Amino acid sequence: MMVDIHCHILPNLDDGSESVDISKEMALIAVEDGIKSIVATPHYIEYEHEVSKKAILKSCQELNQLLIQNGINLKILPGCEAFISPTLVESYKKGEIMSINDMGKYILIELPVTNYPEYVEDVIFDFKVIGVIPIIAHIERYSYVRGDFEVIYRLINKGALMQVNSTSIIGLFGDKLKNKAIELVKHNMVHFIASDAHTTRGRSPRIARAFEILKKERIKDTYIDYLIANSQKIIYGEDIKIIDPIVKKVSWFYKIRRRF
Ligand SMILES: [Fe+2]
Repeated sequence: MMVDIHCHILPNLDDGSESVDISKEMALIAVEDGIKSIVATPHYIEYEHEVSKKAILKSCQELNQLLIQNGINLKILPGCEAFISPTLVESYKKGEIMSINDMGKYILIELPVTNYPEYVEDVIFDFKVIGVIPIIAHIERYSYVRGDFEVIYRLINKGALMQVNSTSIIGLFGDKLKNKAIELVKHNMVHFIASDAHTTRGRSPRIARAFEILKKERIKDTYIDYLIANSQKIIYGEDIKIIDPIVKKVSWFYKIRRRF
């Protein structure tokens, strides 16, 4: 039984599903893939694109109803993908941001692709103080996650968890990103694999193939089971065991080159 903790399946709330029909189609793809529950994670960007908790709950309820009516065995749970900002924790405290399945325990956070904001670690710390564990979305996509993955190592030590997109592992965004995603898994720096699906083709809600690829890459079954179990656990707000990340060794050439 698989759970997809990052998916833009709710219709017309962001750049994900563009209609109820597409959401339904996405649901069918997920079921075929072996997914039993999806955490719907519309983008939440302070001041720019603030999707209310009420709107997310309403949309989940409507989609669940439609799935029941059509005999589609999939449960949609509320969530969001919150873009990081220095005031994100304040907004969360005001009750404006949806945690994973509204449990108040885990929150999915997106970072900028090219620039690493200096307040990331403060935001993680402030969430931890109020008992919320941040999950960083698609870590392989950030350009500053490279070399020895030092950024990720630091964020895990601060108490954040890491999610990688199944589509990156499958190779949808090219070999470079695929290899990076697999490398991150090999260094125990990944806690969740999710689809980050936006539609029915390409970025669709499929996860199973990514696990097959990881098996071929000689990732241990125990680690794959760990990844699958983590996604199941967090929807109930349960704790997950944190495994120690492996420090990645980089060549002297890389270290020297990076200094210039
Ligand atoms: Fe996303």
